[in-house]
Amino acid sequence: MIPMVDLKGQYQSLKEEIDRGLLDALNAAQFILGPNVRAFEEEAADYLGCDHAVGVASGTDALHLGLIAAGISAGDEVITTPFTFIATAEAISYIGATPIFVDIDPHTFNIDLTAVEAAITPKTRAILPVHIFGQPVAMEGVMALAEAHQLQVIEDCAQSFGAAVNGKMTGTIGTVGCFSFFPSKNLGGYGDGGLITTSSEEIAQHLRVLRNHGSWKQYHHSELGFNSRLDELQAVILRAKLKRMDSYSEGRRRVAHHYSAALQQIDGVTPPYEDGIGTHVYHQYTVLSQERQKIQDHLRSLEIASAIYYPIPLHLQPVYADLHRDQALPIAEMVASNCLSLPIFPEMESSQVKAVLAAIGEAVAN
Ligand SMILES: Cc1ncc(COP(=O)(O)O)c(C=O)c1O
Repeated sequence: MIPMVDLKGQYQSLKEEIDRGLLDALNAAQFILGPNVRAFEEEAADYLGCDHAVGVASGTDALHLGLIAAGISAGDEVITTPFTFIATAEAISYIGATPIFVDIDPHTFNIDLTAVEAAITPKTRAILPVHIFGQPVAMEGVMALAEAHQLQVIEDCAQSFGAAVNGKMTGTIGTVGCFSFFPSKNLGGYGDGGLITTSSEEIAQHLRVLRNHGSWKQYHHSELGFNSRLDELQAVILRAKLKRMDSYSEGRRRVAHHYSAALQQIDGVTPPYEDGIGTHVYHQYTVLSQERQKIQDHLRSLEIASAIYYPIPLHLQPVYADLHRDQALPIAEMVASNCLSLPIFPEMESSQVKAVLAAIGEAVAN
């Protein structure tokens, strides 16, 4: 059996440190915004190279609160990608703003900048690029466009912790960066968690109020806020994993490069493209193939996991039917029909990679 990720194996390698940290936190009994949350926020800001990091309850909340703190509100339009997890668009909809889906680049699967520019209207207030699968978006172009049109930039970094572009970590380039610590993410907790990064002191202060019931001082509420704090026990786990982040990213890249070198030789399967302007951290290793079904069936028969992220782009989801009834986004639709994600995790052994590759070779040869 080869899984998509091996969370059990990773826990075993960290068990001593995590167990000790959890016991210490249980004994300290400071469960809400305790010392581990504060320390993790500082360590994450240091690692990413930004001024402020604010822990929240999930990646979805990071986007939701990040949009509010960036000044986006009801009636605004936010340009984003349809080839992402639903949470990206949900967060825009929660605040009464409208997600405007534009097509993606066929190689990187990231938002197409030309399409973003064409979609700008007087109502546009923000661009929300997603560093999909850990491949950083070409942020220089996004920022130039944002500056020219006075737009905010909310980076969805749920899949890109540790990815960098032009020497800057994702999440430190736009107005805010929004991270998820869902267990399977490159930096994952053992439950839900999220983080918002920013270089603005004002936005960071606002986020600290928003995540804590709109409260700047206990029982003093300046605005309608939320209960969305990063959990103290999750912070213990995240601190242990953050120390190993570089080697986790290297491990993923090692596996990805092994896959890619071999897949270049196999007709009918297109390996992921690295555009060379940044460091891809391979949250997913996603190939394109018109023979996806055949490959997936064969992998399944050999107990090798694979997954389709994402089978239906957001503009075609029933929840957004009213918004974009007749819209065709052909590249996103083509990618959704042909994409297949293969197992990838830092600890994956080369014998496992070889087994996946052999199975793909067999599937396309038959
Ligand atoms: C691209 C993207 N955005 C947002 C989210 C939401 O994160 P969470 O599950 O932590 O709410 C996820 C992951 O689940 C994601 O992959």
